[in-house]
Amino acid sequence: MKEVQYNGLTFEPYIEKERIAARIKELAEVIKQDCKGTIPLFICVLNGAFPFASDLVRAVDIDAEITFIRLKSYEGMGSTGVVKQVLGLAEDIKDRTVIIVEDIVDTGTTIKNLVNDLKKKNPAQLKVATLLFKPESLKEDVKPDYVGFSIPTKFIIGYGLDLDGLARNLEDIYVLKQD
Ligand code: HPA
Ligand code: MG
Repeated sequence: MKEVQYNGLTFEPYIEKERIAARIKELAEVIKQDCKGTIPLFICVLNGAFPFASDLVRAVDIDAEITFIRLKSYEGMGSTGVVKQVLGLAEDIKDRTVIIVEDIVDTGTTIKNLVNDLKKKNPAQLKVATLLFKPESLKEDVKPDYVGFSIPTKFIIGYGLDLDGLARNLEDIYVLKQD
Protein backbone atom coordinates (compact mmCIF):
# COMPACT_ATOMS: atom_id res chain seq x y z
CA MET A 1 0.00 0.00 0.00
CA LYS A 2 1.16 3.46 -0.85
CA GLU A 3 1.07 6.78 0.89
CA VAL A 4 -1.74 9.15 -0.06
CA GLN A 5 -1.94 12.94 -0.05
CA TYR A 6 -4.79 15.30 0.78
CA ASN A 7 -4.62 19.07 1.18
CA GLY A 8 -0.82 18.91 1.00
CA LEU A 9 -0.56 16.42 3.87
CA THR A 10 0.90 12.92 3.56
CA PHE A 11 -0.76 9.88 5.12
CA GLU A 12 0.66 6.38 5.43
CA PRO A 13 -1.17 3.03 5.65
CA TYR A 14 -2.37 2.23 9.17
CA ILE A 15 -5.17 -0.37 9.24
CA GLU A 16 -5.69 -2.45 6.11
CA LYS A 17 -9.12 -3.42 4.87
CA GLU A 18 -8.58 -7.11 5.64
CA ARG A 19 -7.96 -6.31 9.31
CA ILE A 20 -11.01 -4.06 9.40
CA ALA A 21 -13.18 -6.80 7.92
CA ALA A 22 -11.87 -9.44 10.33
CA ARG A 23 -12.45 -7.22 13.35
CA ILE A 24 -15.99 -6.37 12.23
CA LYS A 25 -16.81 -10.09 12.07
CA GLU A 26 -15.66 -10.49 15.67
CA LEU A 27 -17.69 -7.50 16.86
CA ALA A 28 -20.75 -8.77 14.99
CA GLU A 29 -20.61 -12.11 16.80
CA VAL A 30 -20.58 -10.38 20.19
CA ILE A 31 -23.41 -8.04 19.18
CA LYS A 32 -25.48 -11.00 17.96
CA GLN A 33 -25.13 -12.70 21.34
CA ASP A 34 -25.96 -9.51 23.24
CA CYS A 35 -29.05 -8.83 21.10
CA LYS A 36 -30.58 -12.31 21.36
CA GLY A 37 -34.37 -12.14 21.49
CA THR A 38 -34.54 -8.50 20.30
CA ILE A 39 -34.71 -6.76 16.95
CA PRO A 40 -31.99 -4.16 17.39
CA LEU A 41 -32.15 -0.73 15.79
CA PHE A 42 -28.77 0.41 14.54
CA ILE A 43 -28.35 4.18 14.34
CA CYS A 44 -25.58 5.07 11.91
CA VAL A 45 -24.03 8.44 12.71
CA LEU A 46 -23.43 10.18 9.38
CA ASN A 47 -21.30 10.96 7.59
CA GLY A 48 -18.30 9.04 8.90
CA ALA A 49 -19.89 5.81 10.09
CA PHE A 50 -21.49 4.82 6.79
CA PRO A 51 -18.92 2.21 5.63
CA PHE A 52 -18.59 0.71 9.12
CA ALA A 53 -22.36 0.59 9.65
CA SER A 54 -22.89 -0.97 6.24
CA ASP A 55 -20.38 -3.74 6.91
CA LEU A 56 -21.40 -4.22 10.54
CA VAL A 57 -25.15 -4.60 10.00
CA ARG A 58 -24.59 -7.12 7.25
CA ALA A 59 -22.29 -9.13 9.52
CA VAL A 60 -24.93 -9.06 12.29
CA ASP A 61 -27.13 -11.44 10.32
CA ILE A 62 -30.22 -11.46 12.53
CA ASP A 63 -33.44 -9.44 12.16
CA ALA A 64 -32.41 -5.83 12.64
CA GLU A 65 -33.24 -2.31 11.48
CA ILE A 66 -30.97 0.51 10.46
CA THR A 67 -31.53 4.24 10.45
CA PHE A 68 -29.38 7.32 10.13
CA ILE A 69 -28.70 10.45 12.09
CA ARG A 70 -26.44 13.33 11.24
CA LEU A 71 -24.58 15.44 13.75
CA LYS A 72 -21.96 18.06 13.27
CA SER A 73 -19.13 18.62 15.72
CA TYR A 74 -15.80 18.36 13.96
CA GLU A 75 -14.25 20.95 11.66
CA GLY A 76 -10.90 20.31 9.97
CA MET A 77 -8.49 18.66 12.37
CA GLY A 78 -9.70 20.13 15.65
CA SER A 79 -12.88 19.53 17.60
CA THR A 80 -15.19 22.50 18.02
CA GLY A 81 -17.03 20.81 20.87
CA VAL A 82 -20.31 21.91 19.28
CA VAL A 83 -22.82 19.17 18.52
CA LYS A 84 -25.83 19.89 16.30
CA GLN A 85 -28.45 17.46 14.96
CA VAL A 86 -28.62 18.18 11.26
CA LEU A 87 -30.68 15.12 10.35
CA GLY A 88 -32.69 14.01 13.36
CA LEU A 89 -34.06 10.65 14.37
CA ALA A 90 -37.50 9.73 13.01
CA GLU A 91 -37.93 6.35 14.75
CA ASP A 92 -39.54 5.71 18.10
CA ILE A 93 -36.86 4.01 20.21
CA LYS A 94 -38.88 3.48 23.38
CA ASP A 95 -38.30 -0.06 24.77
CA ARG A 96 -36.00 -0.98 21.90
CA THR A 97 -32.46 -2.27 21.78
CA VAL A 98 -30.55 0.57 20.18
CA ILE A 99 -26.97 0.45 18.97
CA ILE A 100 -25.35 3.73 17.99
CA VAL A 101 -22.76 3.15 15.28
CA GLU A 102 -19.87 5.63 15.17
CA ASP A 103 -16.70 5.83 13.13
CA ILE A 104 -14.61 7.22 15.98
CA VAL A 105 -14.85 8.23 19.61
CA ASP A 106 -12.26 10.94 20.15
CA THR A 107 -13.00 13.60 22.79
CA GLY A 108 -16.31 11.82 23.48
CA THR A 109 -18.31 15.06 23.21
CA THR A 110 -20.42 13.95 20.26
CA ILE A 111 -21.27 10.54 21.63
CA LYS A 112 -21.95 11.78 25.14
CA ASN A 113 -24.46 14.34 23.82
CA LEU A 114 -26.14 11.78 21.60
CA VAL A 115 -26.36 9.15 24.34
CA ASN A 116 -27.88 11.70 26.73
CA ASP A 117 -30.42 12.76 24.09
CA LEU A 118 -31.44 9.20 23.26
CA LYS A 119 -31.63 8.03 26.88
CA LYS A 120 -34.48 10.51 27.38
CA LYS A 121 -36.51 8.49 24.87
CA ASN A 122 -36.34 5.41 27.13
CA PRO A 123 -34.79 2.69 24.99
CA ALA A 124 -34.63 -0.77 26.61
CA GLN A 125 -30.88 -0.90 25.96
CA LEU A 126 -28.56 1.72 24.50
CA LYS A 127 -25.14 0.62 23.28
CA VAL A 128 -22.34 2.31 21.40
CA ALA A 129 -20.32 0.58 18.69
CA THR A 130 -17.34 2.49 17.36
CA LEU A 131 -14.81 1.36 14.82
CA LEU A 132 -12.08 3.48 16.39
CA PHE A 133 -11.45 4.78 19.88
CA LYS A 134 -8.82 7.24 21.04
CA PRO A 135 -8.85 6.69 24.83
CA GLU A 136 -6.13 9.28 25.45
CA SER A 137 -8.21 12.02 23.77
CA LEU A 138 -11.28 11.50 25.95
CA LYS A 139 -12.62 14.58 27.72
CA GLU A 140 -15.93 13.04 28.76
CA ASP A 141 -16.75 10.09 30.94
CA VAL A 142 -17.88 7.67 28.22
CA LYS A 143 -17.03 4.06 27.48
CA PRO A 144 -18.06 2.57 24.12
CA ASP A 145 -19.53 -0.95 24.41
CA TYR A 146 -18.02 -2.29 21.19
CA VAL A 147 -14.65 -1.02 19.95
CA GLY A 148 -12.98 -2.06 16.72
CA PHE A 149 -9.54 -0.60 17.39
CA SER A 150 -8.18 1.50 20.24
CA ILE A 151 -5.58 3.86 18.80
CA PRO A 152 -3.26 6.61 20.05
CA THR A 153 -4.08 10.30 19.56
CA LYS A 154 -3.14 10.52 15.89
CA PHE A 155 -5.06 11.97 12.95
CA ILE A 156 -6.40 9.28 10.67
CA ILE A 157 -8.45 9.17 7.48
CA GLY A 158 -10.18 6.61 5.27
CA TYR A 159 -13.04 4.11 5.59
CA GLY A 160 -15.45 6.92 6.44
CA LEU A 161 -13.02 9.25 8.21
CA ASP A 162 -12.32 12.50 6.42
CA LEU A 163 -10.02 15.44 6.13
CA ASP A 164 -12.28 18.36 5.24
CA GLY A 165 -14.72 16.02 3.47
CA LEU A 166 -12.09 14.12 1.52
CA ALA A 167 -10.77 10.55 1.89
CA ARG A 168 -13.95 8.96 3.23
CA ASN A 169 -13.98 6.63 0.22
CA LEU A 170 -10.59 5.04 0.92
CA GLU A 171 -10.95 1.32 1.64
CA ASP A 172 -8.16 1.31 4.21
CA ILE A 173 -7.32 3.58 7.14
CA TYR A 174 -4.31 5.90 6.93
CA VAL A 175 -2.46 7.95 9.53
CA LEU A 176 -0.93 11.41 9.17
CA LYS A 177 2.78 11.05 8.59
CA GLN A 178 4.92 12.94 11.12
CA ASP A 179 8.24 14.21 9.79
N1 HPA B 1 -9.75 11.73 11.70
C1 HPA B 1 -10.90 12.18 11.15
N2 HPA B 1 -11.94 12.60 11.86
C2 HPA B 1 -11.82 12.55 13.20
C3 HPA B 1 -10.65 12.09 13.84
C4 HPA B 1 -9.57 11.65 13.05
O1 HPA B 1 -8.49 11.23 13.54
N3 HPA B 1 -10.89 12.16 15.16
C5 HPA B 1 -12.16 12.65 15.30
N4 HPA B 1 -12.73 12.89 14.14
MG1 MG C 1 -18.35 10.54 13.51
